[in-house]
Amino acid sequence: MRLDGRIGVVTAAGSGMGRAGALRFAREGASVGVVDVNAEAVERVVTEIVEAGGRATGIVADLRQDDDARRIIDETADVFGGLDFVWNHVGHPGPAAVEGVDWAAYELAMDLNVRTVIVTTEAAIPRLRERGGGALLFTASVSGLIGSRMSPIYSAAKFGVNGFMKALALRLAPDNIRVNSICPGPIDTPMLRVFVKRPDQKGTEDVDVEDLIYQRQSRVPMGRPGKPEEIANAALFLLSDEASFVTGVALPVDGGATAG
Ligand SMILES: NC(=O)c1ccc[n+]([C@@H]2O[C@H](COP(=O)([O-])OP(=O)(O)OC[C@H]3O[C@@H](n4cnc5c(N)ncnc54)[C@H](O)[C@@H]3O)[C@@H](O)[C@H]2O)c1
Repeated sequence: MRLDGRIGVVTAAGSGMGRAGALRFAREGASVGVVDVNAEAVERVVTEIVEAGGRATGIVADLRQDDDARRIIDETADVFGGLDFVWNHVGHPGPAAVEGVDWAAYELAMDLNVRTVIVTTEAAIPRLRERGGGALLFTASVSGLIGSRMSPIYSAAKFGVNGFMKALALRLAPDNIRVNSICPGPIDTPMLRVFVKRPDQKGTEDVDVEDLIYQRQSRVPMGRPGKPEEIANAALFLLSDEASFVTGVALPVDGGATAG
């Protein structure tokens, strides 16, 4: 098993890619702290893992709150006896408009894409050092690699995540802590639906959400949105020893969307 005996945290693990990752990591032998603000979703995912013979502990947390962002690290490490990896996956699309920007939506996007990553990482570093190293993984986006016309503020946030990731990879390499990010293209989760039809997104008011998703997928060379499990596969690689010489990498998993 590729994560045998490892202990890790997955944020936004109640749905979509985070859920797929938590299930997969547990199948590969990890003990997983399943973190989400949605208590029912946390319980569902923990039950799925345990019924399949895996180990998980559920942690209900609002990651906009710094205390919660730190607590998820301490709770997981205390329950299982240490910490080897964190997949900091939570995020938010933020506002679409720049002229007339919705500042409350801006704050939400910056808190959930950037601030929580920094706070959680701050709490995780000493725990990883105690084990002689480990792996940190952040979720950026293709919008953190190329500009997103529809989401300049989201691009600002996800470029920020990738910048933090690269700087931290340099800083933590001597501690044997690898730091990478995953950059998904459009992935078939509830968030994709939030993304394509935001209240301040001009031109989408009268278009059906499924049509907007179809338009989005037509810009993906492989011609479809990705599946959460396809992101979980890449996350598993980056968190496992198979990636033991990989650090500072922003890995696109996007059906070719950033190839051109
Ligand atoms: N879906 C896409 O197309 C896509 C593409 C690129 C990047 N991303 C990134 O992926 C991540 C989202 O993943 P998804 O698409 O699997 O989403 P999803 O909609 O399936 O799940 C999001 C989860 O986040 C949880 N959540 C929301 N606010 C929270 C908070 N304050 N504290 C804790 N949990 C909270 C929700 O309860 C939900 O379970 C984000 O970082 C997003 O920017 C998504």
